[in-house]
Amino acid sequence: MEVKTSLLDNMIGVGDMVLLEPLTEDSFLENLKKRFDHNEIYTYIGSVVISLNPYRSLPIYTPDKVEEYRNRNFYELSPHIYALADEAYRSLRDQDKDQCILITGESGAGKTEASKLVMSYVAAVCGKGQEVNKVKEQLLQSNPVLEAFGNAKTVRNDNSSRFGKYMDIEFDFKGDPLGGVISNYLLEKSRVVKQPRGERNFHIFYQLLSGASDDTLKKLKLERDFSKYNYLSLDSATVSGLDDAANFRTVRNAMQIVGFMEDEMQSVLELVAAVLKLGNIEFKPESRCNGMDESRIKDKNDLKEMCELLGTEQSVLERAFSYRTVEAKMEKVSTTLNVAQAYYARDALAKNLYSRLFSWLVTRINGSIKAQAKTRHKVMGVLDIYGFEIFEDNSFEQFIINYCNEKLQQIFIELTLREEQEEYIREGIEWTNIEYFNNAVICDLIENNQNGILAMLDEECLRPGTVTDETFLDKLNTICADHQHFESRLSKNSKFLNDHSLPHNCFRIQHYAGKVLYRVEGFVDKNNDLLYRDLSQAMYKANHSLIKQLFPEGNPVKVNLKRPPTAGFQFKASVGTLMSNLQTKNPNYIRCIKPNDKKASHIFNESLVCHQARYLGLMENVRVRRAGYAFRQAYEPCLERYKMLCKNTWPHWKGPARQGVEVLMTNLQVPAEEYSYGRSKIFIRNPRTLFFLEEKRKQCLEDLATLIQKIYRGWKCRSHFLLLKKSQIVVASWYRRYAQQKKYQKIKHSTTVVQSYTRGWQARKLLRELKYQKKCEEAVTTIAAFWHGTQVRREYRKFFRANAGKKIYNFTIQRIMQKYFLGLKSKLPSMSPIDKTWPARPYSFLDGVHAELRRIFHLWRCKKYRSQFTEEKKAVYEEKLEASELFKDKKALYPSSVRQPFKGDYLEISKNPKYQKLSSAVDEKILLADVVNKINRANGKGSPRLFLLTKKNVVLADQKTGQLKANVPLTDLASVSTSTQTDGFFALKLKEGSASAIKGDFLLSSDHLIEMITKLHRISSMAADREKLNIDILDEFLVQFKQDKVCVKFIQGSPKNGNSVSCKRKNNRLLEVSVPASS
Ligand SMILES: Nc1ncnc2c1ncn2[C@@H]1O[C@H](COP(=O)(O)OP(=O)(O)O)[C@@H](O)[C@H]1O
Ligand SMILES: [Mg+2]
Repeated sequence: MEVKTSLLDNMIGVGDMVLLEPLTEDSFLENLKKRFDHNEIYTYIGSVVISLNPYRSLPIYTPDKVEEYRNRNFYELSPHIYALADEAYRSLRDQDKDQCILITGESGAGKTEASKLVMSYVAAVCGKGQEVNKVKEQLLQSNPVLEAFGNAKTVRNDNSSRFGKYMDIEFDFKGDPLGGVISNYLLEKSRVVKQPRGERNFHIFYQLLSGASDDTLKKLKLERDFSKYNYLSLDSATVSGLDDAANFRTVRNAMQIVGFMEDEMQSVLELVAAVLKLGNIEFKPESRCNGMDESRIKDKNDLKEMCELLGTEQSVLERAFSYRTVEAKMEKVSTTLNVAQAYYARDALAKNLYSRLFSWLVTRINGSIKAQAKTRHKVMGVLDIYGFEIFEDNSFEQFIINYCNEKLQQIFIELTLREEQEEYIREGIEWTNIEYFNNAVICDLIENNQNGILAMLDEECLRPGTVTDETFLDKLNTICADHQHFESRLSKNSKFLNDHSLPHNCFRIQHYAGKVLYRVEGFVDKNNDLLYRDLSQAMYKANHSLIKQLFPEGNPVKVNLKRPPTAGFQFKASVGTLMSNLQTKNPNYIRCIKPNDKKASHIFNESLVCHQARYLGLMENVRVRRAGYAFRQAYEPCLERYKMLCKNTWPHWKGPARQGVEVLMTNLQVPAEEYSYGRSKIFIRNPRTLFFLEEKRKQCLEDLATLIQKIYRGWKCRSHFLLLKKSQIVVASWYRRYAQQKKYQKIKHSTTVVQSYTRGWQARKLLRELKYQKKCEEAVTTIAAFWHGTQVRREYRKFFRANAGKKIYNFTIQRIMQKYFLGLKSKLPSMSPIDKTWPARPYSFLDGVHAELRRIFHLWRCKKYRSQFTEEKKAVYEEKLEASELFKDKKALYPSSVRQPFKGDYLEISKNPKYQKLSSAVDEKILLADVVNKINRANGKGSPRLFLLTKKNVVLADQKTGQLKANVPLTDLASVSTSTQTDGFFALKLKEGSASAIKGDFLLSSDHLIEMITKLHRISSMAADREKLNIDILDEFLVQFKQDKVCVKFIQGSPKNGNSVSCKRKNNRLLEVSVPASS
């Protein structure tokens, strides 16, 4: 539901001055101040918007705000410039009424900002689409271009518009923008050559020097230094908060969007540069022969560069600065210019160049933004014109500006009154005459065609003879003397003769906005706006397309001897056109006020505001508005707003709104003279009555609020209760369900348990029975089987052979054995007794047999082997066997003897003639003959002896001679001793008491010790009558030499003694034999 609001809601002070009660100047100002302090910068007087300049950005121009004010009634929301823009746009779109927005106020009051706000609002709410957006963008972007060339910093405003601007925005029937037309009024061109203290020249000069690239500046022959140019005032060349360089880029960009070509932009900049150069041209006097001074250019460099920029010939321009040609009736007179005239000419050229450039820019922009479609269109005009100006020193410009404002005030008064009157007529209300100040008389003083000030100035300018500003003043003094708004010291009306505030060269006009003193100096010149023809012709000759266009009067073909229209005349004419244009449109007013002179936020200077309020005629505006009825409102919103005040209309009125309002008013007992009924509106005479209604409404609203609160609270509590109740039921039902579920589950569980027990018991019982049954069945079956078996066996026994199995077994075993033996036979190993191989056994049960067979086979092949031996070989083996029995593992010498064959006779004595005698002495067969060493007991040294062994004796003989030394019968031998080691020492011990024992035992050493002792032992053991010869193997034994016993001890020799066995006598009773360690 859309909430109906009103201007009257949450008001700070009153939003509409019409409602001010009581209406005095003080309360008016107080209201403005109060609102200003609360950031409410807009206030209405009826449909007029008063705007106070906040001098800071407020958050009230956001897209949200645009949406808020879009399509809302004017009085529905708190005052805002958007409300006015919306109202204007909607009546343009919906009611097909052309609109104009008139923005007035002093310089710096916020007019230009207001015009931009209106335009941006309209752009935001009107139609969208590619084409429409392009148009919008071009319209909006024309602003920065015109501001750069037409705005300047003044003491009042850092961005003061120095021209008047009226822009018609054209819309199609849907309210989409089609294009626009801009008109400009009187650029303050004197600023180009001179600026008051603390002010600047037009922005574009500073922007160009700060923002252009080095390259561009070089092309324009400029330097980035303000101080190089005479036309630029230096004391405020840079303005805080203004970024000239960035603005230059913005301007170039805007020019591009608006549709300027690159070469056009270049031409424009060249002209700007040329103006700067022009300011640097200086003149010096040169005396001539006729005593007159003639001017000469001081330094021609700047002139040269300027001519290069503009493409003019230097000599032509130089001449134009020195001479002036006057043409009259086919006659040409050329006069020289003095220095002052030359400077005048220079400045005039500069001003003309710049102002014509500005006009060209406006025309060029118009060319871009003009509506393409030729269809009829609706128009919204926005007028942002310079405000009323009062300076210390007011000249022609201020006069013109103030005249313009005077005209605007006039139209304001006329239109407001007319509108008011029209509304009364429309609504059928009786019109009562209203007293107000009408400034038509002042306008007449200025513009009257016969005796108006402008007319007289023109007359003076055109008059032949010497014309000065003073002659002009004289004329005024005569003609306007009686005018009640004209004051001059020397007027015929002598009442100002002693007024010292009025200097002699001035006149004063009582404008609607206050008295302004004008100094007449320069009026004539400025009105004439003279540019010597030589200069315009020089410009026309320039080889520069733009310049040529700007100075058409310089064309020699079209010499026009008629004077051009004066500035005043032109301005009057354009103001006239503007006024008649505005009168055809529905006006919307924005009256701008500046709260202080310091451009400061939050400061509200009451006297300053009071002054502006007075000259803007705001109080009168309120009075006019209130003259008949202070407040009016259409019946529907009125009924909607106050219907709660009466039972009959509350809450719904069924009939027409007007009747409802009538019932309401009668019911409230409002005196009948306080209001009138119009056709669509009710008119309320006094604000008091409105406030009475508002107060009642407020009270009623409070009651209603309480009622609503009561009902709401009741409703809230009830619904809360219902909700609780509903929730409780839900909770309870859920709980019950849950409880039931639980209970059911418990029962179900118990039932299942009982059931399972019962079933278990039954099942077990059944199982038992079944098992028993099964056992019985099995028993029966077994018994039956046995019984049947017995029966069958009994019946069939006769058919079986009782020992078939055994036979089969035996047969099988036989077959296996047969196969085994045949296999073994074919796989028998070789007959060599040392071959250890034997075939593997095929069955484990043959283990024992197999091993036994292997043993038998081995014994058999050994026997076979042995049976091949001869008797001798057999004896040799027997001897070897005996040696083994005697010495194996007892004497270390034994292993080396195994390989040696026992030869026996090593000497072959019988064949040696040397031993003939000896062999004959030994009659028996010699079993062993060898050489041994007999060890001498005295020193342990050995001497070689022949050792012979027969069946009965041991014979020792000299080795050389063969002479017998000893012959010992074997029966005399008691034992033989030898060591355990590798030596060949042995002792032959004799039986005590035998014949041989007299000479003592023999200690001998032989290389064939094993053989010798073995043979000795064999022989002695073969004789049946003799006892066995003892063989002692010890490392220490006693030897009985002739007289005494000597101990022979065998020790392990150290390796340093070498590999030989040595025997040393240690003492009388000890011989020590050192034997090398066996390896
Ligand atoms: N509505 C506004 N909000 C914020 N600042 C404003 C507003 N209106 C004006 N100003 C400030 O005041 C300065 C002067 O405004 P401007 O419109 O140029 O004055 P005028 O055109 O009346 O001479 C602006 O540059 C801006 O700083
Ligand atoms: Mg402005």
